[in-house]
Amino acid sequence: MKILFATNNAHKLAEVQAVLGDGFQLLTPRDCGITEEIPETCDTLEGNASQKAHYLYDRTGLDCFADDTGLEVAALGGAPGVHSARYATDGHNFIKNNELLLRNLEGVADRRARFRTVIALLLGGQEYQFEGIVEGRIIDHAIGCEGFGYDPLFVPDGFSKTFAEMTPDEKNSISHRGRAVRQLVARLKSGFY
Ligand code: IMP
Repeated sequence: MKILFATNNAHKLAEVQAVLGDGFQLLTPRDCGITEEIPETCDTLEGNASQKAHYLYDRTGLDCFADDTGLEVAALGGAPGVHSARYATDGHNFIKNNELLLRNLEGVADRRARFRTVIALLLGGQEYQFEGIVEGRIIDHAIGCEGFGYDPLFVPDGFSKTFAEMTPDEKNSISHRGRAVRQLVARLKSGFY
């Protein structure tokens, strides 16, 4: 089955394709001639995921899904949350985002944080949402080269290494996105509409 996924982020594509397996072929917005940045102007992950999925469905009529993820840090009142991509700058500057996060947590003992992913799926125009959460903590310097975004600063509960030190399979097996995508797969496999 072909399904359109609202991302051009190669890391995310690989993570999601690995969980979906061979039975599904992911299409990207670019594959469908959509080259502009897809708007995400809502103030919740749920709203943004839904907005992105509807944007694609309105233009292509294809079954599609979109995800939105936030890093929610307890001591920062849940920030950066829905603003995770543009925490430090207007762009998706992972290094500057991580630097700002570390600055804002300087001297803070409570390092609890979680990643939360919301996926909005549109099947025949009907919307379904799935949520995946992984709890963990923010360490005080970056470790590891795998993954992307805040991965080098995040150690999931029950582990002594960051997401950026894990293989893609290891990260997928416990991550926010892996958990949400497994629910998506279950929905897709349970039959349509
Ligand atoms: P998005 O909504 O999925 O694009 O995620 C927003 C921001 O959250 C990204 O720009 C990354 O900084 C961060 N992010 C999302 N997923 C992950 C992840 O799996 N690991 C680390 N950071 C992530």
